[in-house]
Amino acid sequence: MFAAGGCFACHRFANEGGMTGPDLTGSGGRYSAHDLLDQIINPSREINEQFVPVIVKMKNGDTLTGVVVNMNGDRVTVNTDMFDPNQRVNVNRPDVASIEPSKVSPMPPGLLNLMREDEVMDLLAYIISGGNSDHNVYKK
Ligand code: HEC
Repeated sequence: MFAAGGCFACHRFANEGGMTGPDLTGSGGRYSAHDLLDQIINPSREINEQFVPVIVKMKNGDTLTGVVVNMNGDRVTVNTDMFDPNQRVNVNRPDVASIEPSKVSPMPPGLLNLMREDEVMDLLAYIISGGNSDHNVYKK
């Protein structure tokens, strides 16, 4: 279900998957089953501070939303498409009017809507198990 639900697109789990969201290998140990499910159903309720998206307002009126991946001198690099880590926009800091945190998680809501209840349970059990990696929460 982790693969079928599209989670690998953004999350690493047991050394596989994307990097645009947090590594979930240890998250079974960080959250109760209830809170874990809540994080998946309501991604924007509590946004992981390392992945807070920003709204960049430019002096010319343009805006863009994404996650800041690099700041170097006057250059700010923003990833504007969470499904594509290469989708990056460089902005020139002197052209920026403001950068503010967004209250909307880059993780889309509703990912569980197409799953049956037993499939959701399987997904949770899989995350809580930590997979078969060395990070397995039950090996500690
Ligand atoms: C488009 C990218 C994307 C997809 C697809 C995605 N996520 Fe996320 N997810 C994120 C990002 C970014 C965060 C961090 C921001 C936040 O906390 O809302 C996150 C946060 C989480 C968290 C909280 C982890 C933490 O440490 O705060 C959990 C649990 C989670 N996702 C589970 C899932 C599961 C399960 C799926 C598949 C059904 C999934 N995600 C699909 C991007 C994604």
